[in-house]
Amino acid sequence: MKIAFFGTRAYDRAAFDAANARFDQAIHFLEPRLTGQTAPLADGFPAVCSFVNDRVDADVVMRLAAGGTRLIALRCAGFNHVDLAACRDAGIAVVRVPAYSPHAVAEHALALMLALNRKTHRAYNRVREGNFSLDGLTGFDMHGRTAGVVGTGKIGACVVRLLRGFGCRVLAFDVAQNPDCVSAGAEYLPLADLLRQSDIVTLHCPLMPTTQHLIGADSLAQMKRGVMLVNTSRGGLLDTRAVIAALKSGQVGFLGIDVYEEEEGMFFEDQSATGIRDDVLARLTTFPNVLVTGHQAFLTTEALANIAETTLTNIASIERNEPCANRVDSA
Ligand code: NAI
Repeated sequence: MKIAFFGTRAYDRAAFDAANARFDQAIHFLEPRLTGQTAPLADGFPAVCSFVNDRVDADVVMRLAAGGTRLIALRCAGFNHVDLAACRDAGIAVVRVPAYSPHAVAEHALALMLALNRKTHRAYNRVREGNFSLDGLTGFDMHGRTAGVVGTGKIGACVVRLLRGFGCRVLAFDVAQNPDCVSAGAEYLPLADLLRQSDIVTLHCPLMPTTQHLIGADSLAQMKRGVMLVNTSRGGLLDTRAVIAALKSGQVGFLGIDVYEEEEGMFFEDQSATGIRDDVLARLTTFPNVLVTGHQAFLTTEALANIAETTLTNIASIERNEPCANRVDSA
């Protein structure tokens, strides 16, 4: 099948070229991300391969359908950015990669926690400038601390196990309990209790209308003073302006984010020549106790290989009219 592959980066191409040796699909790698302007590049392509920050709203879906597209293969887990109703109306199937490496994201969440706690990002810069002073670099033992995991699906469950390995008391909140997390030693509590008791709060639930700004001024006020907040899930879970106010007051002591609510069109691009144009994100980067990564939690060799394998398997199933468990358009 001819596939228009939007937003190609060198690492995508390497992983998909390797996997495609077994599938032999006609992949046309395109650099721009999918938007209203770039959708015509998919004219004549029955399949489009798209990533998290592409624009897949009703206008784009209609434009893709007009060009002959009948399948959108998401090479990511989240599909909150896709207008599924528009896809259904246009007769476009949507498939995704529900799991490719929960370990990759979970380990990145831990990397943010450890770097923020032990101030590795600051120590790195100091040593490069010949400054071996330790002032301001005091951290805390993870062992014995209380960590709250919000969302205990595939990634959250890995985070629970990693935190238990550090000797943390782990609290959990989810709309449905995961027995694996209970047997790993997590204690399920209502969200308000988790927020009140946790030294670290890490978010692993999906972005949906009910979870938009799950962490805002009210929930921040319920947390322990000086709490560490980590978000590797979706930017919209955090009310960023409220978090900035909480950082300024000291209510939030550390913030680690891999996702940002206005990241679309900014993350995955090299904007070093122009600087950060988003004033809210620019403000965040001025805090010494804030660590921002540009949606890289998924980026491991293993995850990229799994993403390519599952995406191409999904496409082959749809091409052969076979049932595909990874369809999200309620076929
Ligand atoms: P999953 O579907 O296995 O787990 C999500 C969990 O959240 C489920 O247990 C679900 O019951 C729970 N949940 C749903 N609504 C909730 C609510 N209101 N409050 C608390 N929990 C709720 O998903 P998985 O694979 O663990 O991924 C979690 C999220 O991580 C994804 O939704 C995605 O946004 C994000 N992600 C981020 C990546 C990155 O590179 N930064 C890469 C992959 C995923």
